Amino acid sequence: MAASRSRTTAPDVLARKGSKPPIVMVTAYDAPSARTVDAAGVDVILVGDTLAMVVLGYDDTLQVTTADMAHHVGAVARTKPNALVVGDLPWLSYHVSREETVRNAAMLVRAGAGAVKLEGGRKRIETVQAILDTEIPVMGHIGLTPQSIHALGGFKVQGKELDAAKALTDDAVALADAGCFAIVLECVPDGVARMITESVPVPTIGIGAGRHCDGQVLVWHDLLGFGAPGHRRPKFVRPYADLERDAAAAIERFCADVRAGTFPSSAETYHMTDRMAEALGLDGAAPAERELTQ
Ligand code: KIV
Repeated sequence: MAASRSRTTAPDVLARKGSKPPIVMVTAYDAPSARTVDAAGVDVILVGDTLAMVVLGYDDTLQVTTADMAHHVGAVARTKPNALVVGDLPWLSYHVSREETVRNAAMLVRAGAGAVKLEGGRKRIETVQAILDTEIPVMGHIGLTPQSIHALGGFKVQGKELDAAKALTDDAVALADAGCFAIVLECVPDGVARMITESVPVPTIGIGAGRHCDGQVLVWHDLLGFGAPGHRRPKFVRPYADLERDAAAAIERFCADVRAGTFPSSAETYHMTDRMAEALGLDGAAPAERELTQ
């Protein structure tokens, strides 16, 4: 368990560029997941729009709204973590107008985020600047950007060809120049992630981007072994536990105890006084029943 620390800010994360140890970011979506990742000592908690898939059961991330995200950012922030809380701007929350973008980013900050994240490279520069103008730190996200799933043609590794790798590097440089304090690199070859990391003065945080990034991020459910039936685990996920199996086994034991009549025990029961039992006529209850009411 980590010792108590002061709250991490976006400038603290920016200051970690190129330093060791690497930055650790993990997603969380509610109070219990926020408490577990913060107690473990992560630097950044991302309330990701993966919420749609790992918590709400949708097939992609396009289904969540800013109100959904704010609801979950609030749950995470109310645990008062030491880690920086980054709220993910969902699809369509920063694509329509400058006013809507700023209002949506502010909604996540009012819910408790210390920064917001958005997807896309050079075409998002004005958007990034509009949010920065309202003094909200912005984290970029390039490579496989799940909000572009239809345009990309699926969840595929990005930057595999020379031109695409160069374009990603240009995107990262533009985001850093615009003022992003960190950039997520998702599903790109490690050499490309290395080139990008060496080209920008802000930390890169990789997911499926190899070990040359300034930090790493994983999704809470992937890291802990929760997955929908039939879900194929991406190769970049290292499950550190099998909590879905462990949780099902624990609940199976509860089912068995209830069905066998061994739950609740006397110690797990509130008992009435003998005087009240007598007044209610429970006195003559059979010993086994009497045991259950005392
Ligand atoms: O929404 C999310 O969880 C993310 C991570 C996969 C980086 O964007």
